[in-house]
Amino acid sequence: MALMTWDDKFSVGVKVLDADHKKLIAMVNELHDGILSGKRQESLAHVLDQLVKYTQVHFAREEEFFTRTKYPQAAQHKKEHDELIKTAVDLQARSKSGASSMLSLETMTFLKNWLSHHINDIDKKYGPHLNSQGIH
Ligand code: FEO
Repeated sequence: MALMTWDDKFSVGVKVLDADHKKLIAMVNELHDGILSGKRQESLAHVLDQLVKYTQVHFAREEEFFTRTKYPQAAQHKKEHDELIKTAVDLQARSKSGASSMLSLETMTFLKNWLSHHINDIDKKYGPHLNSQGIH
């Protein structure tokens, strides 16, 4: 069963960013399914690598919109991005060093909660601003 399910209430009102969020949710689910089905650590580490890479691509896309439109809450928003990347890179390093327990269901709950909170409480705030600048 999927750990997270996309719901239209997650929409930030910008198509390309909604598509990114859908993809990130799918990747979190893939990692979760891999843990549940007992996939090997190397395989899980590969999925985690892909998830971290895509998260960086997504954050860069949002931040480019912020710069282009002079989004007033950009600095605070970017701080949340930077903190998550720091945590994720640490997770990657630990999983590669063999501390396999790091890629646990607790980790997945953390990622799910972070993503839900970030999209709903932080990302959704930029929707009206980007829309007012012609970005939909
Ligand atoms: Fe969709 Fe701010 O990350």
